[in-house]
Amino acid sequence: MTDPAIDEPTIDAEALRERALTTLTTARTRTTLLTSCVEDPDLTAQHSPLMSPLVWDLAHIGNQEELWLLRAVAGRDAMRPEIDGLYDAFEHPRSERPTLPLLPPAEARAYAAEVRGRVMDVLEGADFHGTRLTQAGFAFGMIAQHEQQHDETMLITHQLRKGPQALTAPEPEPVALFTGPAEVLVPGGPFTMGTSTEPWALDNERPAHRREVASFHIDTTPVTNGAYQAFIEDGGYDNERWWTPEGWAHVRKNSLHAPLFWHRDGKQWLRRRFGVTEVVPPDEPVVHVCWYEADAYARWAGRRLPTEAEWEKAARHDPATGRSTRYPWGDADPAPEHANLGQRHLRPAPAGSYPAGESPLGVRQLIGDVWEWTASDFLPYPGFQAFPYKEYSEVFFGPEYKVLRGGSFAVDQVACRGTFRNWDYPIRRQIFSGFRTARSAADV
Ligand code: AVJ
Ligand code: FE
Repeated sequence: MTDPAIDEPTIDAEALRERALTTLTTARTRTTLLTSCVEDPDLTAQHSPLMSPLVWDLAHIGNQEELWLLRAVAGRDAMRPEIDGLYDAFEHPRSERPTLPLLPPAEARAYAAEVRGRVMDVLEGADFHGTRLTQAGFAFGMIAQHEQQHDETMLITHQLRKGPQALTAPEPEPVALFTGPAEVLVPGGPFTMGTSTEPWALDNERPAHRREVASFHIDTTPVTNGAYQAFIEDGGYDNERWWTPEGWAHVRKNSLHAPLFWHRDGKQWLRRRFGVTEVVPPDEPVVHVCWYEADAYARWAGRRLPTEAEWEKAARHDPATGRSTRYPWGDADPAPEHANLGQRHLRPAPAGSYPAGESPLGVRQLIGDVWEWTASDFLPYPGFQAFPYKEYSEVFFGPEYKVLRGGSFAVDQVACRGTFRNWDYPIRRQIFSGFRTARSAADV
């Protein structure tokens, strides 16, 4: 049934079809690489209890695509109803998934490919009007984002995997050491947070609403390894005063003393990155820190983490027009000169990279490189409505999750924008997480 109230006759169906096709194809190319660069035993193994076996992600990607694009959108019957439960993320925790009777690699590949083949037929005849699910190709965009989110998850699994290098990528462009101002003043006043117009924005990014944000200063770039090392050398991990009580208990109990994947070799810090051990580069944004570490560093530096609203205002508010843009650089889709996205490089780019991607006030690298921890709990915006399923966002709202913003080098642009919200437990650091710091303008 067509609901004329949400029908948008201006949408160019051919452009939407093309966009859906391109984003789905880009995702599948990446999925295929991540699940073919190691031998099959590495696909069924569990490389960390925090992660699923790669072969689970692969069939889960196919199963979600079948559920939403073949069953919900096209009204088809289930292809293999007996496997739905295996690939329902809520039925089995990740640590349990290797013990399930999962589809073996060849079958998982064939299943995902079969689903995709049928989706191509559906896409050919799809109309992009009517229901909220099909409006502007939302379901196709949601499924492309879902696959890319799992491609980031699978890259995390590759990073956790012991053994020799399986993935390679070109290095980011070298840049001169960043010598611009260390922080930027964001003037106080209201701004528009969230979106009601971005067609593929997910439920938790909606609706657009006004937020009052007092003036604050925010770091021009993410916190670097070099700066973080100064916190370590200053005994930051041994000094209770920098930590919240939960954070202090956590670092003591788990003997944390540096970011995940770091170890000290005499005087220098080394890290393991996708199977290669290397010296920690001082001018690159720090990655693989948990929220507690980010929060403690900020306190040690005499600062604090930005709230989620502050982060988004820094990323989207254009003081010249008073509008919120889609990205820090404006409304144009990300291009390589704007941001380090899409696993183009397998590391963050040096602090100060991508001047073309800076915000009107001059804040850099808000998009790409590292997910940035914010001070905020993951909560719904005023007027939030779960869509199309409560298990994407709604079941996670509450104080146990902290919001991360901006995306990492590992996330594709389809799942990254100024309004995009990620969340995780404050102890998590296998994710590509870093941070930047802030201070209220009233503070000296
Ligand atoms: C938004 C990254 C927290 O991986 O748990 C994937 C994304 N949701 N499949 C996650 C997601 C369902 C989600 N995060
Ligand atoms: Fe999923």
